[in-house]
Amino acid sequence: MKYILQTKELTKVYSMKKAVDNVSLTVKPGDIYGFVGKNGAGKTTFIRMILGLTRATQGSCSFFDGAGDAGDRRRIGSLVESPALYKNLSARQNLELYCIMTGSDRASADGLLELVGLSDTGKKRVADFSLGMKQRLGIAMALVADPEFLVLDEPINGLDPKGIVEIRELLLDLNRKGKTIFISSHILGELEKIATCYGIISSGRLVEEITARQLQEMSMERTMINTDSPEKARKIAAGILGSDNLAIENGILCVSKKIPNIGELTNEMFKNGIIVSGITSDNGGAEEYFLRKMEEGQS
Ligand SMILES: Nc1ncnc2c1ncn2[C@@H]1O[C@H](COP(=O)(O)OP(=O)(O)OP(=O)(O)O)[C@@H](O)[C@H]1O
Ligand SMILES: [Mg+2]
Repeated sequence: MKYILQTKELTKVYSMKKAVDNVSLTVKPGDIYGFVGKNGAGKTTFIRMILGLTRATQGSCSFFDGAGDAGDRRRIGSLVESPALYKNLSARQNLELYCIMTGSDRASADGLLELVGLSDTGKKRVADFSLGMKQRLGIAMALVADPEFLVLDEPINGLDPKGIVEIRELLLDLNRKGKTIFISSHILGELEKIATCYGIISSGRLVEEITARQLQEMSMERTMINTDSPEKARKIAAGILGSDNLAIENGILCVSKKIPNIGELTNEMFKNGIIVSGITSDNGGAEEYFLRKMEEGQS
């Protein structure tokens, strides 16, 4: 299969305003696609369109190389905003009911509760659940039919740090078992440890697509060493650190990797008659980069 989801120029206009503006993206088998954007960027609207919950004003969307459709609950599981739950029922009753509604095996409910960490909630009514517990139940419901593709709109919303880690691990595990995942968030950091690629949406537009590897390179620590002799300084740095990820920008030596012992490096430069007049460093700043991209998209 070439793609799980492909959208072409998908657009949604609400009373003159483009909530989603010409978004074309492809989710490939095995991806964990992180869909990142601020509040109001258009994430939920995009997700509702691909799931057929709201009609696109323009553009198209197809699944599984064109062989599936949004209504196929056995292939596509989803959680959009808050899950629709029966408040007076327990987690297990909700899940069993959902199994019946989707024609899935009720016996899977216990395993799913265990998987999302809700197996000890017993008779507790969903009305008395915390937000995080409801999110977990929503994820369990998305998994009921053991779908190939999971579409999750801000599933980490409302979870405590421990819950975030658990859901991340759950998603990684599901991905290892072959599920492709599309997950939205307004916080890049929440997706950073799991996504294989990212799409950044700003004011309805897809302003950037980037792989996890590219992001990792950008996040790498950078040290700028200002000297009176940059070429000579580069040779010395190469002798100690290896020659990759060294560059001279505007006459300044830029080292885009971790320097285990900066003292050793500057000492060696001094010994070779190089005057080091300044050292600064930044962490590449993936989050910063994303924020900038989001700002750009709004202009
Ligand atoms: N039913 C609607 N009618 C009119 N405007 C809408 C409707 N739904 C969404 N919008 C507008 O579309 C834009 C995108 O909203 P959307 O809910 O998709 O953003 P989001 O990225 O999911 O935000 P959040 O992070 O807050 O969930 C917003 O300006 C919103 O006000
Ligand atoms: Mg939303």
